[in-house]
Amino acid sequence: MLEVYGGWIVLPYGIMKDASVIVEKDRIVDIGNAPKIRKKYKITRSVGSKNSIICPGFIDSHLHSYQIATRGLAAGKTLLDWLKIIWKWEGNMTKKQASDCARLAYVELISNGVTSFVDYTSVRHTEEAFKVASKLGLRATIGKTMMDRNSPPGLLEDTMESLRETERLIKKWHGKKGGRLRYAITPRFGITCTDQLLNGAVRLAKKYNTMITTHAHENIKEVEWDKKNYKKTAIAHFHELGILGKNTLLAHGIWLNDDEIGLLAKTKTSIAHCPGSNMALKSGHAPVLELLKNRVAVGLGSDVGAYHNFSMFDQMRLAILTQKKRGKIFDYKDAFKLATIGGAKAIGLEKEVGSLEKGKKADLVLLDGKKIVPKNDIVAQIVFCGDSSWVTEVICDGRILMKNRVVKQN
Ligand code: GUN
Ligand code: FE
Repeated sequence: MLEVYGGWIVLPYGIMKDASVIVEKDRIVDIGNAPKIRKKYKITRSVGSKNSIICPGFIDSHLHSYQIATRGLAAGKTLLDWLKIIWKWEGNMTKKQASDCARLAYVELISNGVTSFVDYTSVRHTEEAFKVASKLGLRATIGKTMMDRNSPPGLLEDTMESLRETERLIKKWHGKKGGRLRYAITPRFGITCTDQLLNGAVRLAKKYNTMITTHAHENIKEVEWDKKNYKKTAIAHFHELGILGKNTLLAHGIWLNDDEIGLLAKTKTSIAHCPGSNMALKSGHAPVLELLKNRVAVGLGSDVGAYHNFSMFDQMRLAILTQKKRGKIFDYKDAFKLATIGGAKAIGLEKEVGSLEKGKKADLVLLDGKKIVPKNDIVAQIVFCGDSSWVTEVICDGRILMKNRVVKQN
């Protein structure tokens, strides 16, 4: 058995000092006072020290791994003009580039303490991302982006072909590696997807019980396009098509009125909140407090490459600062929840990950406690001051993915 030891551990109900997490295979079998519980088990390996802080692995609920190559491109643009530039690169991307991008992105995720994520790959080469996630050991939800209208050559797909390829990928990858890998059906957004494609996406999601994820209500021009073409908002239209539901994760959700928030709550649809991207593309600030008040599950997303790194520390801070811009106070403890248990709820994995509890999957990170002085409020320090240099070890599914800040690549 593996013992993960720390001078402090961040538990759902607060901080415990001098704690050990006992891991058997992929699961947490015990958590408690280190000297007491380590005697009870046959420990064969141990990580951590009295300076370590044990924390749940972070969850990035929305990113585009291949866009790691486009970071900084089109700086200053807003969504629809930005996309035109991204699409040019994306349309010409080779299989090798997709693989290299996935590797670089996932290694950066690990070094930022992220253990679970949702990745929109491009229209092609999705398997490269699955192969890399499979090898590196991350808990990955990955989907091939679907685009069958208003898309440039190289990305525009035939509707049936897009659905066939999606189904092939589901059969090959969904639930593999003991459930560590999952498929997400990923229509890009309303503008690039016909209703026929969206109907097919819903059919597949029901047939295979997978997540559907798409972008919605991100940019005001996109919302105007939806209103003109659907004669209603995307949220209302998606509801009519049967897209909204507990397995559905919408990225951004900025331009939402009370009725739409109510509809998300009623249908148990989740939101991936991407405050860094929302600032970078000048999209606006999402009504996070209102969503949470209505019990909508909200996770945090880096949305790389619209934002520039995979730091959930950045996103926690930006979630707080962007609510301030709206004249609201968003508590740092709640920001921490968005990056952990909130994200787990948003991606439908709250029974398995997002908090350190007996019986849950062993997805945890060790932070360097020497960075925190004094230690009177560890969570506040993590949220307001943390960065990737604090992350020393990363464990996912009971496997050590990074030790002494070195990611194991094989
Ligand atoms: N809407 C449709 N595609 C995209 C994308 O790649 N990134 C973001 N941020 N929004 C989108
Ligand atoms: Fe995105």
